[in-house]
Amino acid sequence: GTSELRLITMEEIALHNKRNDCWMVIGGKVYNVTHYVEFHPGGKGELMRAAGKDGSALFNDTHPWVNAESILRACMIGFCSGPSKSQV
Ligand code: HEM
Repeated sequence: GTSELRLITMEEIALHNKRNDCWMVIGGKVYNVTHYVEFHPGGKGELMRAAGKDGSALFNDTHPWVNAESILRACMIGFCSGPSKSQV
């Protein structure tokens, strides 16, 4: 639940870059998108380009009209601490 949201470093996020363990930063928020990957309308491969990284730029370049906060509400696990060095 929201009471468990915490600050998460890019170093920790980078450890979760697998198909079966996939975290991603979108707009400063950290999401565990492991269960969303197979439902991504753009395909698994496209989404996995930002696995373990800050996917904000790719996301905004591809579909700025998509409401990630709404779609991924249940997947949010925290906020990204500091600058996103591994933005793709
Ligand atoms: C399409 C959600 C991240 C690439 C879509 C669509 C949604 C969506 C709802 C359909 C949009 C529409 O038809 O108007 C998300 C969410 C993301 C995410 C919630 C965050 C986890 C990404 C990332 C990429 C990406 C990081 C990397 C490039 C694409 C592409 C399509 C697409 C290429 C277009 C597919 C097509 O037009 O056939 N995504 N997306 N998405 N997404 Fe994502």
